[in-house]
Amino acid sequence: MSINQHLNWRYATKRYNGESIPESSLNDILESIRLTPTSLGIQPFHVFVIENKELRNQLKPALNNQPQCTEASHLIVFASWKSVTETKVDDYMALIAETRGVTIESLAGFRSMVWGYLSKQSPENIELWASKQTYIALGTAMVSAASQQVDATPMEGFSAPAVNDILELDKYDLHAAVILAVGYRDQNIDPLASANKVRRPLYKLIEFI
Ligand SMILES: Cc1cc2nc3c(=O)[nH]c(=O)nc-3n(C[C@H](O)[C@H](O)[C@H](O)COP(=O)(O)O)c2cc1C
Repeated sequence: MSINQHLNWRYATKRYNGESIPESSLNDILESIRLTPTSLGIQPFHVFVIENKELRNQLKPALNNQPQCTEASHLIVFASWKSVTETKVDDYMALIAETRGVTIESLAGFRSMVWGYLSKQSPENIELWASKQTYIALGTAMVSAASQQVDATPMEGFSAPAVNDILELDKYDLHAAVILAVGYRDQNIDPLASANKVRRPLYKLIEFI
């Protein structure tokens, strides 16, 4: 199947059948998150994968009691950085140096550009910027899931402060940006499993100028 056929196959699943997805599929989805490009390459987010039923029961009210919370195979919580510190920038420079076999000193110009740009931003801009990067990862994870015929639901319908509290994200300078449930659809009880996809036609969405 082509990417567009996979995208046509996928839908925001409302009801899952409780089956677990294979570890290999989960790992592929997580690898696609890791490979997602981000602004400056700094990957300003952290990802929590939750299988534990007890924890998901505890999270459910924070997710507006959406059934996907407990019926899906796993919940992937995308948590964005709340701030960027010099330590985070230095960790990134160390990773580049190690990965590319270059010296930290040779990265001085890039470091100064990255920190110069990020340190000038307001805390609100940093949070917004970090959550935008996080959503790119959500997108690649959804495509990766669909390409493996794994169902997924992107979820914004939750109380971020409540999820932050339960997962103690503040402690790590993170906040819950978006959640992806993954698993297998239950066609028998999910009316959207057989619904046509609603999208504006290309000519109303895209203009060549
Ligand atoms: C960022 C984002 C947040 C969403 N939040 C929820 C949600 O909390 N619960 C839900 O059931 N669907 C949620 N959706 C699903 C959308 O309603 C759905 O993707 C859209 O209607 C298009 O339908 P389709 O994905 O089935 O093609 C969300 C989608 C996105 C992209």
